[in-house]
Amino acid sequence: MRLPEEKIDEIRRAADIVDVVSDYVRLLPSGRSYKAISPFNPTERTPSFFVSPEKQIYKCFSTGKGGNVFTFVQEMEKLSFIDAVKFVAKKVGIDLSQYERQASPIADKYGEEYDLMAWAAKRFHANLNAKEGKAGLEYLLGRGLLKETISKFGLGYALDSWDSLCDAAKKEGKSLKLLEEFGLIARGEKSDKLYDVFRARAMFPIFSPAGKVIAFGGRLLVDEKDAPKYINSPETRLYRKSEVLYGFNFARDEIRKKDEAILVEGYMDVISLHQAGVKTAVASSGTSLTTEQARLIARLTKHVLFVYDGDKAGVRAMMRGIDILLEQGISPMVLFLPNDEDPDSFAQKVGGEEFLKYANARKTSFLDFKIDVLRSSDGFSDEERTRNSVRELVGTIAKIPDELGREVYLKSLAEKLDVSLGALQKELNALLKRDAPKRFPVPKPASNPKEAESSAQNAPQKNALPVAERTFLKAMLESAYHGNEVLEFVKEKLPILRFKHEWTEKLARFFLERYEARDKNSPFDPTRELNYLDDENLRNFVSELLIDEGISERWQPEPPSVYARRCLMAFLDATRKIIAQTYDDALSENMRALGAETDAAKIGALITERNNLVKAKRDAEAEFEQTVKSLAGTH
Ligand code: CTP
Ligand code: MN
Repeated sequence: MRLPEEKIDEIRRAADIVDVVSDYVRLLPSGRSYKAISPFNPTERTPSFFVSPEKQIYKCFSTGKGGNVFTFVQEMEKLSFIDAVKFVAKKVGIDLSQYERQASPIADKYGEEYDLMAWAAKRFHANLNAKEGKAGLEYLLGRGLLKETISKFGLGYALDSWDSLCDAAKKEGKSLKLLEEFGLIARGEKSDKLYDVFRARAMFPIFSPAGKVIAFGGRLLVDEKDAPKYINSPETRLYRKSEVLYGFNFARDEIRKKDEAILVEGYMDVISLHQAGVKTAVASSGTSLTTEQARLIARLTKHVLFVYDGDKAGVRAMMRGIDILLEQGISPMVLFLPNDEDPDSFAQKVGGEEFLKYANARKTSFLDFKIDVLRSSDGFSDEERTRNSVRELVGTIAKIPDELGREVYLKSLAEKLDVSLGALQKELNALLKRDAPKRFPVPKPASNPKEAESSAQNAPQKNALPVAERTFLKAMLESAYHGNEVLEFVKEKLPILRFKHEWTEKLARFFLERYEARDKNSPFDPTRELNYLDDENLRNFVSELLIDEGISERWQPEPPSVYARRCLMAFLDATRKIIAQTYDDALSENMRALGAETDAAKIGALITERNNLVKAKRDAEAEFEQTVKSLAGTH
């Protein structure tokens, strides 16, 4: 799909970044902006994430990330630019169907890859209705799935054949190379012949958060001793296993709405729960929950019900998973299902309502769960074991990011185990001290942008920009919201300006080029131009400049005309300094050389150079003042 720029602008203008961001975090008013706990760093305790409704940009001072509404959606939903535009369009109700079928001259990033995965998923799904695929359909129905569930989750069947997919791909001109890369087909070791990897398996497409097929899990119809029950796609550029939760695309809205998620182990658990109406279920697909997966949930809710299988592997996985959830600010509840049940079988047996009732009645805190598990594995059978178990439990509590939370659970632990709180506290403090650098790799963000900046991890980069250059850029961008005066000035003076930091040069050039190429009928909008600033570091930096209200105390709310005037003044002041700096640097270098030189001829040359520099500086300053005067004359 290719969208005209005007359409993209229309979508951006129709969307309020405050609304869009509010879907992910709770925004609190803060002066003329809003602030929130960063969605990129949900464990932080002090909000470091700022949104400016005026400029329609955001900036996270703990991760450095910043941009406009599209980059935000890209970041949160892991989408390409064009998909983020579509996502926002849908949200604000702008219909893009007229563009749908237009072939895109600049293909979406990974467009071919996504198409291929969708193609394969469709084939597997269609197989269910073919004669050769009957076994697949019977299997899925036999597991209690309704036709509509099968459709919703895009389930399918890989035929009992070595070349069904290969042949179809050849016939339809699909890239065999990509199919091989994505693990759908493979090459025989000796014969070098291509063959289908998934054969006679029920197919579970795995979706990206945006609902695109990125991988597959394939299940044997009948469990066998020597074959793996599931085979899964390898990691690819579309699929990073550790960052994907199965069912996330279907569950996201519901999790947000209910402010709760149910975390299960398997594909079937998710599907059966959703079918039973429990649409907050997502799966880690495999045994151990990863930090990225926990983070994905933590962005939506802090209330998680952890229900893995009750077998040994499941319990072990939960013991680890609890710590990972705690690190992300989630204190999970844990549910043990009756013997031999897993969420899939239990939901199928009793239905969604009963499932939830049972869960509410039986769920326990993560702490009780851990104590129970340790107790039932003889963790408290003698003093030595007890000591180790207590250590382990304190270690778990140490994962909780906020002090109050740690306090509450520590107290509870002391009571439950009848150990003195003082002893536990000592143990906890020792652990916290030991793990301090690991726990808080990001410096604790401050509560307003100005303070936050000085402590943010990207501060060194920013500080590397001389104040005059920072002001120059800030004033240039800021003024652009109020007219073209400063940009016109930059256009004229850029050739004589020498910047110390390459970012200043790059950004001045970038915005100037964009300014020159602008649609002369609409005002120049720096927020819009972020769409075209490909360098992420620069984009983050520009967002920081834009959201920063406080270069100088003078940048206070004022009528736009007065404000625009101030921008111009600050800008001229900065430019004056940059011009002077250009010559002053050369002059001090010249001074240094003079001081070190003994050769008379060379001294002469240096003195001539010095005089020329002084004159050039005076000329440049005079010329600059002349332009300033003529600018002033226009007011
Ligand atoms: N899994 C896997 N490879 C295996 C076994 C399991 O990738 N050999 C992953 C799958 O994502 C699976 C999850 O671990 O969904 C949970 O495994 P398990 O409980 O064994 O499977 P179920 O989802 O319960 O599947 P089924 O009910 O069909 O046995
Ligand atoms: Mn199962």
